[in-house]
Amino acid sequence: MKKILFVCLGNICRSPLGEAIFNHKASMMGLDMVADSAGTAAYHVGEQPDHRSIEVARVHGVPINHKARKLIVEDFDRFDYILAMDGQNFQDMKSLTTGNTDHLFLLREFDQDANGKQDVPDPYYGGYDGFENVFQMVSRSIDQLIVHIEAEK
Ligand code: 4NP
Repeated sequence: MKKILFVCLGNICRSPLGEAIFNHKASMMGLDMVADSAGTAAYHVGEQPDHRSIEVARVHGVPINHKARKLIVEDFDRFDYILAMDGQNFQDMKSLTTGNTDHLFLLREFDQDANGKQDVPDPYYGGYDGFENVFQMVSRSIDQLIVHIEAEK
């Protein structure tokens, strides 16, 4: 069983969508893989995903159910692949470990339409359109992430 962790800042907007989309695709494809998510900040610990993340998941038929939690140092050993949503999240999570970082990635390294961009933009202070944009970007990146994980097995 491969374990995948999605990381963002608050763990209420982007990374819970990553977790939900990944688990939905993995279950539809019958893959032996499971995703979780965590945040680099603790502001929203214990909260459900943002209502706009819940809505965009519902619109696309993806079940979403997560309680925000903070990234902890043990996560670096527990997960096989850890995907950060943006460059700041990547730096923040990397600074928490002195161990091996070969399994840490920016999610958009797997986005075939990235055009050199590395960040899934933080949609928290914007409107619903930003959440639809995040959904598309994250879903597209996960398709290639799954190909990558399958190829490494
Ligand atoms: P996320 O979005 O990192 O995608 O969960 C955010 C959620 C909350 C805040 C910032 C970003 N905040 O500043 O509270």
